[in-house]
Amino acid sequence: MSTHITRRSLLGAAAASLAAGCSSPATKEFVAPDDKEVADAEAARGTGTGSVRKARITATTTTLDLGGGRTVKSWAYGDRLPGQEVRVTAGDTLQLTLANHLPEPTSTHWHGLTLRNDMDGVPGLTQQPVKAGAEFTYRFALPHPGTYWFHPHSGVQQDRGLYAPLVVDDPKEPLRYDKEWVVVLDDWVDGVDGSTPDSVLNELRKGMASGGGHEGHSMPKAGAEGPSRMLMGARSELLGGDAGDVAHPHHLVNGRTAKAPSVFTAKPGDRIRLRLINAGGDTAFRVALGGHELTVTHTDGFPVEHATTDALLLGMGERYDVLVTAGDGVFPLAAAAEGKNATALAVLRTGGGSAPDASVRPKELSGRVLTAGRLRAAESVALPAKKPDRTVRVELTGGMAKYDWAFDGKPYAPERRLAVRAGERVRLVFANTTTMWHPVHLHGHTFALAAGRSGPRKDTAIVLPNQTLAVDFDADNPGLWMVHCHNVYHAEAGMMTVLGYQR
Ligand code: C2O
Ligand code: CU
Repeated sequence: MSTHITRRSLLGAAAASLAAGCSSPATKEFVAPDDKEVADAEAARGTGTGSVRKARITATTTTLDLGGGRTVKSWAYGDRLPGQEVRVTAGDTLQLTLANHLPEPTSTHWHGLTLRNDMDGVPGLTQQPVKAGAEFTYRFALPHPGTYWFHPHSGVQQDRGLYAPLVVDDPKEPLRYDKEWVVVLDDWVDGVDGSTPDSVLNELRKGMASGGGHEGHSMPKAGAEGPSRMLMGARSELLGGDAGDVAHPHHLVNGRTAKAPSVFTAKPGDRIRLRLINAGGDTAFRVALGGHELTVTHTDGFPVEHATTDALLLGMGERYDVLVTAGDGVFPLAAAAEGKNATALAVLRTGGGSAPDASVRPKELSGRVLTAGRLRAAESVALPAKKPDRTVRVELTGGMAKYDWAFDGKPYAPERRLAVRAGERVRLVFANTTTMWHPVHLHGHTFALAAGRSGPRKDTAIVLPNQTLAVDFDADNPGLWMVHCHNVYHAEAGMMTVLGYQR
């Protein structure tokens, strides 16, 4: 609890300095979100020359129907799950007003975008929190086509229903396909038997000593905050061991449980582009389409050399685009909660036949499973090989017992920064000293995996337990950028830090 209070007051101090329009002494040496360099970087990208696309989203309390008789009180963008997709064309400027009808402050972060730092949506770092009842208008240019998404960067709000796809069309789209299917994956706990993401975080923070915790399923426990959601003993070979911390009672594709899945209709022979997004809080998904091979064309918005597979693994925050040629009939799109003994479902229908059963497990799920390390960047986006000017090393630390997930043993403090300088080629090294996997995410940049060997361009990458992952990027977007684990519970426990551009 004491770390909780400390963190809150640190955020408060940072917010106060933002409000006063001045930076604390410790931050003077870094480019601030409202500095000229930030606008200059956006102008230098040569974008924002297209049209201005206006949109409005309302973060609100609502009742959601997840299907199969399950309705929940939750928080969402409008009255739907996922929120209404935002679609723009590369080169456009998005002008989007967020109206906050929630009972607490919120924010919206544009996951994966290279955008101007003051629009990145991190309260206490790049903007003030958007207070209950207030509005905030985001306005920024979108340079790169691809599959992105947005969610709050406030506490564990992302594990409610506050998420939606953001698709940036390519004005010169090189792929040929007949249909597009946006597929958003999620693990769900909010509003089920009194649980909220905040109550789950509280339970995790109290730790295993409190007697919570169970193997692979949830057990009722006395208390106003619902049953225990702590998960112990979820194992996955693909994830190198412990698969997750939270026993979410439901797993969803496009807001629906497997008992009442969403159905996508097409014609036999249609080429369909799937845009897969993992919006989960604590769950990696292994995805397969029964009876089909997947051709992977993009990850995290950026093209790759096409690769075929039976199934794909997505950590939280990751996206993959795949092409399929639809067969004739009814097919399960299955998203197995990796290591958690649950499967989410959607249906592709191109012909007659009965709907697949909620418990269906297409054999492709246990076929070839692709992870990002197997991919190569498409030539058009490969990061040119270059010796790094600077290597920044962070250790992933902490564990489930004390729930002290952190970088370098220190919980998040907005004024502590990993320093880089504009113009540098930076190598970011994530050394995972924990016994768990973490999907690490960098804001405002798209790094390259497998330095110097044409690794795929990504913004979120899985680091397996006791392994080290090195990624390279060009420091070409000045500002203060979050680096964090995209397990929302790990992030909120402290596994976040800031990458800052020194003047
Ligand atoms: Cu989905 Cu800090 O990001
Ligand atoms: Cu983590």
